[in-house]
Amino acid sequence: MTRVLIDTDAGVDDTLAIVYAASSPEIELEMVTTVSGNVPVREVTQNVLYLKEILKLGVPVHSGADVPRARKLVTAPEVHGEDGVGGFRNSNHVPPVSWETKDAAKKIVSAAIDHGPKLTIVSLGPMTNLADAVAIDAEAIRHVQRIIQMGGVFTGYGNTTEFTEFNIYVDPEAADFVLSNGIKVKFVPLDLTERLFFPRPILEDMVRKSRTKNPQLARLLKKALRYYINYHRRTEKIDGCFLHDPIAVAAAVNPRWFKFVDSLVSIETKGDYTSGMTIADFRKRQRSCNSEIAVAFDAKNFVRDFTRKVFGALLHQDVIKRDCITARSTTTFDITLN
Ligand code: BDR
Ligand code: CA
Repeated sequence: MTRVLIDTDAGVDDTLAIVYAASSPEIELEMVTTVSGNVPVREVTQNVLYLKEILKLGVPVHSGADVPRARKLVTAPEVHGEDGVGGFRNSNHVPPVSWETKDAAKKIVSAAIDHGPKLTIVSLGPMTNLADAVAIDAEAIRHVQRIIQMGGVFTGYGNTTEFTEFNIYVDPEAADFVLSNGIKVKFVPLDLTERLFFPRPILEDMVRKSRTKNPQLARLLKKALRYYINYHRRTEKIDGCFLHDPIAVAAAVNPRWFKFVDSLVSIETKGDYTSGMTIADFRKRQRSCNSEIAVAFDAKNFVRDFTRKVFGALLHQDVIKRDCITARSTTTFDITLN
């Protein structure tokens, strides 16, 4: 069984991703580390610790970087709320718990040394902690089974600036540092994650039904998803939301659902208009590749597995095919449906 370490900037879709990972018997969730991104690391860590409590998870949580390696922190409260969960913690006055360990990078290295080729790292936020871990012991990180990064956009428009995806935009120096140190990364980019979206009526129905399974989780998801969906409605003009981070977790839960291609990825760190861009040329075989990019995945099986585990609900494949696949013109990636 693969041991999985999740590094996260939770975040609404990160929250769904952690619930999905925690309910997947195919993997063993080893540790969760936190990083600033969607919201500052203080909020991220409170979210993960709250989730740990309501899911009764026995996993260690370690907080990490509060700012990117070489620039000011940019957050996304308009997408995830000031508290990262659509206002749920703030409006319910969830009392803060002691959180600050600041040792995420060290713990990532220890996990890499302890489990080596049995460890998968799934990074759902900016790559700051990962870069800090590489700075401590690149050799150890090089020997983990795989590093899956939700991030980057290669053929379409970005979600943060015209050509950048949020996680890489926030800390491009970190992404560049990891790749420059010979660490192979498997990117699950926006091109892929934006081809699938979850319709609001189906989601609301599922959250309602999941109340009997775990009422506390259902309450959290109801509020967090409402906020997240409102953002999508305003800016993306869709009545639902994307599942970026759960799709990245799926690449650890069932790697056979994904098709990755070898590639040479470069990260722009300097451009006035393009800082945070991820660049790859899909037209030709590169002589040396530093990464793999997910170009296709089995959306149907993912959605079925995800909804079953997270909400305890079964979704018919015709509904998935009809309602969850978007044909956005901004990307050339495709997803398989079988
Ligand atoms: C990524 O950015 C964050 O807003 C999400 O949590 C996801 O990790 C999508 O670009
Ligand atoms: Ca995230």
